[in-house]
Amino acid sequence: MSRSVPTRVSEIPTPALVVDRAALDRNIARMAAFFATGSCRLRPHFKAHKTPEIAKRQLAAGSCSGLTCATVGEAEIAAAFCDDILLANEIVSPEKCARVAALAARVRMTAAIDSLAGLAALSRAARDRGASIGVLVDLNVGQGRCGVEPGEAALTLAQKAAQSERIVLRGVMGYEGHLQPVRDRGERESRTHVAMNGLVDTAKTIRAAGLPCEIVSAGGTGTYDISGRVDGITEIQAGSYALMDTDYSSVGVPFEPAFWVLGTVVSRPARERCVADCGHKSMTKDHSLPGVRGIVGATVTSLNDEHATIALPPDSTITIGDRVELLPSHVDPTINLHDVFYVVDGPTVVDVWPIAARGYLEHRNRTRMEEPA
Ligand SMILES: Cc1ncc(COP(=O)(O)O)c(C=O)c1O
Repeated sequence: MSRSVPTRVSEIPTPALVVDRAALDRNIARMAAFFATGSCRLRPHFKAHKTPEIAKRQLAAGSCSGLTCATVGEAEIAAAFCDDILLANEIVSPEKCARVAALAARVRMTAAIDSLAGLAALSRAARDRGASIGVLVDLNVGQGRCGVEPGEAALTLAQKAAQSERIVLRGVMGYEGHLQPVRDRGERESRTHVAMNGLVDTAKTIRAAGLPCEIVSAGGTGTYDISGRVDGITEIQAGSYALMDTDYSSVGVPFEPAFWVLGTVVSRPARERCVADCGHKSMTKDHSLPGVRGIVGATVTSLNDEHATIALPPDSTITIGDRVELLPSHVDPTINLHDVFYVVDGPTVVDVWPIAARGYLEHRNRTRMEEPA
């Protein structure tokens, strides 16, 4: 049985994810304007929102070289409307590499590598498919996650990539994820410059060895305007800026909250608190509890599976059935919990956007796309 699409915010079934279209477009325009000057391009990270309608707005705003994705499933969804995709992640299993190769037969695909095993897996899949897959050597620029060390180790892997069948060496990437949340701007700047120097120097070493290094990719919402102005960085992979979360708001980047989780008050058991129907099954607690939008003095004191408990100012008149708007602390894991965005303009629902690439399981996404021929 299909339910009719609500036309008013008050009719949206809760808990629900809401995006303020005007705020989203302002964030997208602000970022595009930054990259409209200088030589560095933006490659928005699709993993943040997994929503084709948002990605299309980012691409339409200009200054973009394509999209960044984290998973093969995201890339499969993105390939329907974007012809240049960076998988900023190590893809190693034969099944996933075959899917990357199938995509590479249709669009320009580039994936991160940090091992000979990963390189060999992509090369095999590309050969089997008769496609060419681009690679970036992934460097550990201080985050301590994936990536080879800058310098010699990176050059050795780049040389192997350049010799590999059906592999196109396109450059290097180094995500300074550990620096995105650094609150002090001066510290964030100086540490980002150190991290980016290692990346840019490695790119120079690779070129000096006679190898191509057209892409030097880095950055996120916390460092886009630092890494994005470092000479030699060619692309920035920022994602959260379009929607924003409370964690990034406290870092002090110039973007506004454009989404929230809408809940309904289901209990007002005491003067000083109410309880809404949106717990951590509808938003993450990663980083911190959510903020409360539009009720001065209200704070979320706990999230349970289906409940948000909210401490209220003494004079609050909020009552059962009223709506609350909670601002999540982290964009990506919150959006991954929902199927759609309700797109609003004030009190009016103007659209509903599928979060087409959401979900934890790659095979879930596969059911939504064409099987490779
Ligand atoms: C590889 C990579 N690049 C870029 C980003 C930047 O994303 P954001 O702008 O949302 O911080 C992330 C975020 O986790 C990432 O993992």
